[in-house]
Amino acid sequence: KRLRTLSLRKISLFLKQPRSKSAKAKKFRGQRVKVSAWVHRLHIKGKDMMFVELRDGSGFLQCVLTNKLCHTIDALTLTLESTVTIYGVITKLPEGKTAPGNHELVADYWEVIAKAPSGDEAFTNKVTKDSDPSLRLDMRHLVIRNRETSSVLKVRSKLLKSFRKFYEEHEFYEVNPPCLVQTQVEGGSTLFNLDYYGENASLTQSSQLYLETCLPSLGNVFCIAESYRAEKSNTRRHLSQYTHLEGELPFINFDDLLAHLEDLICVTIDNLLADPEAAALVMELNPEFEKPSRPFMRMDYVDALAYLKENNITKEDGSLYEFGDDIPEAPERAMTDKIGRPIMLINFPVEIKSFYMKKAAHDRRVTESVDILLPGVGEIVGGSMRIDDLDELMAGFKREGIDPTPYYWYKDMRKYGSCPHGGYGLGVERILAWLCKRYTVRDCCLYPRFVGRCAP
Ligand code: 4AD
Repeated sequence: KRLRTLSLRKISLFLKQPRSKSAKAKKFRGQRVKVSAWVHRLHIKGKDMMFVELRDGSGFLQCVLTNKLCHTIDALTLTLESTVTIYGVITKLPEGKTAPGNHELVADYWEVIAKAPSGDEAFTNKVTKDSDPSLRLDMRHLVIRNRETSSVLKVRSKLLKSFRKFYEEHEFYEVNPPCLVQTQVEGGSTLFNLDYYGENASLTQSSQLYLETCLPSLGNVFCIAESYRAEKSNTRRHLSQYTHLEGELPFINFDDLLAHLEDLICVTIDNLLADPEAAALVMELNPEFEKPSRPFMRMDYVDALAYLKENNITKEDGSLYEFGDDIPEAPERAMTDKIGRPIMLINFPVEIKSFYMKKAAHDRRVTESVDILLPGVGEIVGGSMRIDDLDELMAGFKREGIDPTPYYWYKDMRKYGSCPHGGYGLGVERILAWLCKRYTVRDCCLYPRFVGRCAP
């Protein structure tokens, strides 16, 4: 009888189901199966037994090869990362033994699909956990095969799914704005400029302005798009390309925006941890992970300055941070780590924020803006209410020295039915660094891009 290749995840899912509940599982247990996968680990036990741990991305499975199956040339020269097909019966592990899923495949036939090299070219000689970080980045295409790295990528996939679930439940439409643009959002100094058929263009820093244009046609909208920043400094939380989750909501006030953000983060984490596979991966990567509790602490910018002063967190030259200063990464992190829980830092001064941010009614020196800070990472979200009055917007362009001409379409939003609205951008790699307890955001994307790194 021809056997269908089963994924390792399917096998473990079948076996996890209580026998009485699933006829399928009952039928499946003790049956002969066929699996195709990569050799993740190899352990030779004498001349008549070998253990091959398989990996196929969906899971891991221990296979036992005995007697004649171990005596072939292929068996004697089998290497890590070779691909194989193994046939056999799934069996409960003998008492006292451990293996992924507590079961093993007792093989009765197997074959090599493609053999990986041995000797100098062997997989284990290419890169190890202790290799220099830049070699590990050169070899990232191989590094992603290790358990820890692939676990982060799996959590990433599940996290994006959880965000989408939140938006689905809150009736948001997803849109896909362009990456090639001719307007800036977050300041000219971090633009990646390029030649676009003889015209100047750049890679997008944020899709915010496009999301704003969608409000009259789609209502609440979000996007998950790549954003690009020519960040010249090498920090553990800055990438040149990152995944930016952005949302925009019409007819809200600043309090609604803050409540929505709290919901977005808490419900998404709940969605994620409700998935048993994701929950297990998060706990494996970050055993001390605790869900953030509501309400998030709200802290005014001026109170943050006071906190820095009280806690003797100063500028490099020893002077104090004053009203109008941007709070850089190091002091922001020092404060957040000391407080040890999520903070919504609000009401930043006009002069350190972008042209589009709405001024607060209670104090025209500050904006209705918010940064969400998390312990260990710092800022993961930047959001604000947007200026909805055309004259005020024009003043914002003027203040920032931006030519408004290419923004004709953005200005039209204030002309044809303006509305109070607000939105935000969340750095996906940053929230992942917090969730999976990674030292740097570089470990939270597939192939990181930062100063001096554009390959593989
Ligand atoms: O605070 P930012 O610059 O805000 C905006 O771009 C707004 N236009 C978003 C909006 O309102 N729709 O960036 C938002 C978030 C930051 O909080 C951070 O998490 C992430 O994007 N981010 C970066 N992540 C990795 N590498 C970088 N270079 C990043 N720059 C910003």
